[in-house]
Amino acid sequence: MSTPTLNAYEQALKDLATSDENVVVMTAENRAALRTLPPLLGHRFIDVGIAEQTMIGMAAGLALRGRKPIVHALACFLTMRAYEFIRTDVGIGNLPVKLVGGVPGFLSDGNGPTHQAIEDVAIMRGIPGMKVFCPADADDLGAALPALMRDPAPCYIRYNANPSIVKHPLLGQPEKIEVLAEGSDVAILTHGILIAEALAARELLLAQGISARVLNVRMPKPLDEATVLAAARECELIVTVEDHFLIGGLFSIVSELLATHAMRARILPIALAEKWFTPAMLPDVLRSEGFTGEQIAQKISAKLGRVSGANRVALNAADPTITRSDALWARAKDLIPHGSQTLAKGPGQHVGGVAPKYLARGKGSHVWDVDGNEFIDMTMAVGPLVLGYADPEVDDAIRRQLDAGITFSLMHPLEVEVAELVRGAVPGAESVRYSKTGCDVTTAAVRLARAFTGRDRVACCGYHGWHDWYVSTIDRNKGVPEATKELTSTFAYNDLDSVAAAIDDQTACVILEPQVFETPKDGFLAGVKKLCAERGALLIFDEMWTGFRLAVGGAQEKFGVTADLATFSKAIANGMPLSALTGRADVMKLLDKDVFFFTTFGGEALSLAAAAATIPALRARKVPEVLAARGAKLRDAYNALAKELGLDWTRCAGYDARTMVSFDAKAGNPLELKSFMQQELIRRGVLWGGFHNLSWAHSDTDLDYLLGCYKQILPELARHVAKGDVKSALRGTPLEASIRPIGGASTKPRKA
Ligand SMILES: Cc1ncc(COP(=O)(O)O)c(C=O)c1O
Repeated sequence: MSTPTLNAYEQALKDLATSDENVVVMTAENRAALRTLPPLLGHRFIDVGIAEQTMIGMAAGLALRGRKPIVHALACFLTMRAYEFIRTDVGIGNLPVKLVGGVPGFLSDGNGPTHQAIEDVAIMRGIPGMKVFCPADADDLGAALPALMRDPAPCYIRYNANPSIVKHPLLGQPEKIEVLAEGSDVAILTHGILIAEALAARELLLAQGISARVLNVRMPKPLDEATVLAAARECELIVTVEDHFLIGGLFSIVSELLATHAMRARILPIALAEKWFTPAMLPDVLRSEGFTGEQIAQKISAKLGRVSGANRVALNAADPTITRSDALWARAKDLIPHGSQTLAKGPGQHVGGVAPKYLARGKGSHVWDVDGNEFIDMTMAVGPLVLGYADPEVDDAIRRQLDAGITFSLMHPLEVEVAELVRGAVPGAESVRYSKTGCDVTTAAVRLARAFTGRDRVACCGYHGWHDWYVSTIDRNKGVPEATKELTSTFAYNDLDSVAAAIDDQTACVILEPQVFETPKDGFLAGVKKLCAERGALLIFDEMWTGFRLAVGGAQEKFGVTADLATFSKAIANGMPLSALTGRADVMKLLDKDVFFFTTFGGEALSLAAAAATIPALRARKVPEVLAARGAKLRDAYNALAKELGLDWTRCAGYDARTMVSFDAKAGNPLELKSFMQQELIRRGVLWGGFHNLSWAHSDTDLDYLLGCYKQILPELARHVAKGDVKSALRGTPLEASIRPIGGASTKPRKA
């Protein structure tokens, strides 16, 4: 007699039976998959005829006597007709019976579905103690069987012995979710025969610039929770794809898990919603029910709101379409003076007619404008987004707080909790107060210094906000009373002589950004501190940019020099409006009564919740270290490139986490050069205002891409510079000058 040819599953069963004499293979008139086994297994192959309940009862009995039954039936009979027997005899009894459902889900194609075939996961996972295994193919099934047999728990196996289409990274470890492909925009969770469609969808999405992670959730119960939670945290959208009813299967499983962890995620379920599928052969079923790779990809890109034809992060054929941006601008320009509430975000800082004006959405380091164009964002909301857009950890904290309330009639516990966090992070923060904006706290600090010293004059350096005391030092200072203007003088950064000259016996404080783009010279910050102490003025560090970025404790931690007062905002709450005033307790104590500094939203809880999540995350994710490493690499690579190209009129300077590209006037009008760079970067899907405001979410891929763009654009720019005409290479109107002083230039001579 010739040896029958075994399929992979039969071979796996035979091997199991050969190696363990307690293994028994059972079937109830469902021999299709097992045709060759009876003669090979002899008395250890049991066919009970059309009597599923009997078979389950019998399997339970055999299991009680030490046997290990592997039971086969159509999915429907296992899950419904024998349900009560499975539940009571096998499940509650916790007996080592493995139940193999023969034609689950879409595998029942031409036969037509039965309700049990497309709610089998729901039913089986409802049975106590029952594991559920949904293999992707014959390899996954065969390799898992030994592990499942070693495990004494009962298990339902959703039979699928189709040929393998993928290399399994975790073959033989059925309890683990396999990440079959990496991606960060979308996570597609699926199992069984739909793995192939999910992988096909991934390829199509990739062509649209959407990266999809594909997870083989082969064991929905018990679930490999960590992998699902990581996907929900790291991806913008979770997609569950299952040939099962919407209720009770993968979608329900994932939703239950997220609810248990009080986590929210955008979920797109692709399942059979309260209807059976139309009987047909598998390819037709997939198409008519919307489960092909192409249809899955379409549903995902529609859910993500990707606009077809919009520009992507790539060298696009044309500048982005900005029709919606322009339409909004037309409505705004006579209604909202200047249009923008933040100078650096406004139209004057972007090439008119080329750059988008309004952004709609951000995730990580990428943003999408209102016309659907995607960009890597190098501006990052001008500083706040130190972790990146829509950081799941921070956003979850905000959502949890949102459920409890935004702002209250009494103080909120977070005011205390965040103050403790700030005190723990920031050197010299003996006391802490909050407000909403950077200039709120720089102004409060100046008022405090005036109250503490009994003097009125202020010496400053750099930018500190829009309030009178500072704005008197810049060109746009209409509306500031002359008497106020006379009280503020300026000094040059890194120039101790100019600091000494700026302080007189009426100087209440010296306020400066401890570092902007120039590195403090050895002894400069300590020298300023010493001068202040000698002359009876307070030292205030404006740490709006350096705080929670240069180091978690800002410049005071980094340089080991502590000021009397320090002010923070931007990165402290990853995008939520919060600022903090910190410093010496004896000075801050004046805020108890003598100095008035109160505001309605000062203790607003959403921003505090964001800060309470952000500050520990900065440490846990080593954010300052990550930003420093990536930023230094970017700055040094830019300068190396400029050198290699022989361009001595452009450089990148600043501290690692925040650098600026500048253009020297010897090459032409710096604003035109910057405009050209911006226009070409926008064509390539990079939103850029001259700064590298790095966030934790900027990946090496983002930054390598940006460097690749510089490599293409700088030689082009050099050609225009050589011709002495950059302007005619602009496709829109150039940038306007900003008022922001850079470095340490003195903008107003101190009055005698
Ligand atoms: C160093 C510095 N101080 C103060 C401010 C003012 O902060 P805000 O714009 O939040 O009022 C800024 C804003 O960019 C800043 O960079």
